[in-house]
Amino acid sequence: MLSRAALRTWAAPSSRLFSSSSPRLTKVAVLGAGGGIGQPLSLLLKSDPLVTSLSLYDIRGAPGVAADVSHVDTASEVIGYSADHLDQALEGAKVIVIPAGVPRKPGMTRDDLFNTNASIVRDLAAAVARVAPTACILVISNPVNSTVPIVAATLEKAGVFDPARLFGVTTLDVVRAARFLAGLSSANPADTAVTVIGGHSGATIVPLLSQASHGKSVQGEAYEKLVHRIQFGGDEVVQAKEGAGSATLSMAYAGAKFANLVLRGLNGEKGVMTPTFVKSPLFADQGVDFFSSNVELGVNGVEKIHPIGELSAEEEKLLAACLPELKKNIEKGKAFVA
Ligand code: NAI
Repeated sequence: MLSRAALRTWAAPSSRLFSSSSPRLTKVAVLGAGGGIGQPLSLLLKSDPLVTSLSLYDIRGAPGVAADVSHVDTASEVIGYSADHLDQALEGAKVIVIPAGVPRKPGMTRDDLFNTNASIVRDLAAAVARVAPTACILVISNPVNSTVPIVAATLEKAGVFDPARLFGVTTLDVVRAARFLAGLSSANPADTAVTVIGGHSGATIVPLLSQASHGKSVQGEAYEKLVHRIQFGGDEVVQAKEGAGSATLSMAYAGAKFANLVLRGLNGEKGVMTPTFVKSPLFADQGVDFFSSNVELGVNGVEKIHPIGELSAEEEKLLAACLPELKKNIEKGKAFVA
């Protein structure tokens, strides 16, 4: 535990990344704060007025990141914790964001990360179960389709699993879909929001372009290309970084955006809705009991899971391809903990 800064000045939020109502005392912990995602994510959370205390943990480098980020002139307090101080990092946390684990290299799928990341996520979840069992947990570590069931099963084993408080962060798929659709239709991404359902890897990512105002007009080859780009956009970044990792900056943006939505819900704001990967009844009868769809966020986390709505014939096909793969990924996660 090295750096501590309680800053007195208040800087008003200016970007559309964050929207805030009146802030409450909210401690947010980032596990994996020293990494490619963790560092910019910590910076963005430092800028979020709904975060009053920021707890940065990593097995290496977190105190340095905390010392650096703590100089930003927003009101929140920042503390960095090194390897032996996980429990202290988690104490009193209301929201815990987990980007700990290894990222992909060119040629790898997210599932290739399973062997390394499964145990990292399981061990962190066990600590959360012990120290902060009522916190909302936001899982970024891949493969999300499996790591979220791993966290759920670990919490269940400890007798503290609350499905309303566990989220797989699929916001980057939503961010990419809006950006890519805007590029095609010469619109502002603020006007091209796309609901993305399913999971967070390749064919399990199902963008519902037919439900997006600018999406309906994208047809034929352009449609196929757009869907492929949304599903495999992460590969563009992995290839461009030539072995140095996967999306970190856009992921940090997406993670901070999602954390802000969760915090707004916890603070009692009404009508906060976004797609996220949660324990879901929508396809549970087909053995897919975790699924991303539009979720309303509230004071207890998940307030309401919305149905997927009407799909086009193409989207029905995408969903049919998604479900069996997602089922395998979920089962693999559960089996790891069992
Ligand atoms: P990175 O390797 O740059 O950083 C990972 C950090 O985790 C490192 O600082 C490492 O020390 C730390 N770490 C490892 N074991 C830990 C433990 N037991 N406790 C605490 N910290 C630990 O990787 P990067 O690029 O930040 O990616 C992190 C994860 O996020 C990867 O699994 C990646 O696949 C995933 N990811 C998820 C996305 C999503 O949309 N959900 C998008 C992009 C990446």
